[in-house]
Amino acid sequence: AIADLKGLKQGCLRIAVVTTAKYVIPRILGPFCQRYPGIDISLTVTNHQYVLDSLNDNRDDLYILSQLPEDSDATAHSFMENPLVMLAPRNHPLAHEKNIPLKRIAEEPLIMREPGSGTRKAVKQLFDSQGLLMKVKLDLGSNEAIKQAIVGGLGLSVLSKHTLALEGLNNQLMILDVEGFPIERYWYVVYPSGKQLSAIAQAFFDYLLNEGKQVAEETAFEKLL
Ligand code: PGA
Repeated sequence: AIADLKGLKQGCLRIAVVTTAKYVIPRILGPFCQRYPGIDISLTVTNHQYVLDSLNDNRDDLYILSQLPEDSDATAHSFMENPLVMLAPRNHPLAHEKNIPLKRIAEEPLIMREPGSGTRKAVKQLFDSQGLLMKVKLDLGSNEAIKQAIVGGLGLSVLSKHTLALEGLNNQLMILDVEGFPIERYWYVVYPSGKQLSAIAQAFFDYLLNEGKQVAEETAFEKLL
């Protein structure tokens, strides 16, 4: 009855998230949906640029991304770490090296997410900061396809550690020990400043900040952070 009075009994929650968040948000949504069984969810998974576009067009209730918009007036709270790691096939010549200089990595062919991706943006910023160019051999619009391409020997890549959440590292992929890595980042939950959130959007916002990280960790395959 209390849920009813507060507008939490039924309705729809619309969330747009970057692709890295698809590895945790659906798991985090589970207990929330049990608490509010009458609520339907629309979850859009897309890249950083499209999430920003949705924010600017006010298409959803809440947005989750790792790089805050510079030019828009948005309220943002971080709720969890989202580190980026350098992944290689197990048999890669650099596999057992320690503290590999980024300059050495710049000689290797890289598999990168598409332009517009926040992951790509963060990696490019790191290379730029050291005056290095990325040798992008392959652009791929999917984290999962990138993992396959690494195993296929097409190159190294940088992905969120959370892309390993359910299966762990398995015996094909490994994390390289590279200078400047992991790239430390966070996920933020964002909405336009001054926007009045619906009761259900507010409830999810509070839940994400208070309980999100714990639920994500309890349901991951192994401790990732
Ligand atoms: P992306 O964003 O899906 O656009 O790469 C992910 C992130 O910034 O964490």
